[in-house]
Amino acid sequence: MICATRPLPGPAWDELDDVHIGIDPAADVLIVMNEPVPFDDLPALRLVANFSVGYDRIDVEGCRRRGIALTNTPGVLDAATADLAMALLLAARRRVVEGDSIVRAGGWGLPGFGREVSGSTLTIVGMGRIGSAVARRAAGFDMRIVGVRSSEGDLDAALREADAVSIHTPLNETTRGLLSRERLALLRDGATLVNTARGAVVDEDALVAELVSGRISAGLDVFAHEPQVPEALHDLPNVVLTPHIASATVETRAAMTRVVVDNVLAHLRGEPLPTRVV
Ligand code: DGY
Repeated sequence: MICATRPLPGPAWDELDDVHIGIDPAADVLIVMNEPVPFDDLPALRLVANFSVGYDRIDVEGCRRRGIALTNTPGVLDAATADLAMALLLAARRRVVEGDSIVRAGGWGLPGFGREVSGSTLTIVGMGRIGSAVARRAAGFDMRIVGVRSSEGDLDAALREADAVSIHTPLNETTRGLLSRERLALLRDGATLVNTARGAVVDEDALVAELVSGRISAGLDVFAHEPQVPEALHDLPNVVLTPHIASATVETRAAMTRVVVDNVLAHLRGEPLPTRVV
């Protein structure tokens, strides 16, 4: 039996017969969107097909121990995520949302000066597929790119020289809290932090304090305790907030569904899983 926590968008979804929406003890396939898997309720489970590239809320070791395969959706959401990172970067530095609010309120005039994007230095934390896609886009904006891997020792130096920082690491025990209070304090006055990865990569309390002080700006698509967004951010002019929408385009979500369905069909046919994590 195939179970899913939600129906998925796009035409590939129709290739799966009889998907039960919800959790049923008879499930041998469970489709989730980076949600914890209740292993104890699912004795027949053989495949967790994750409709997400990130699997930080899924117990990978638990899957491995129980001989349950786990798949994700790498590759197909790189462009959409990189596009949103650029949108947040541009919106935060050029005060787009503040300007929009002024006009909608019937007003006219500057929200205050923004900060230049062209010619500025962008530090990209995590130079995998998505980080590299951001680098290509930022090069088109004449930005100077400094790419660092989360494990590298030169992260502090790269933060010090950044006008903007964009985070593209998975969340795991190495990267949780990577942008700590001390590291956020290394950012220059007027710098912009963009996060389309996972909220918990940043010390969220420390980030909120920096944003409340007005010292830096931010574009945030992800939060440490979604769907909760710290209330202190709601009225701040120097932060642009979106509800974890980096992969949420018609095209990308359909492509993600295609990957999920290909994994499920391969499992049903006893073939190798195209994007297996464990
Ligand atoms: C992912 O794929 O990890 C995204 O964050 C979910 O949209």
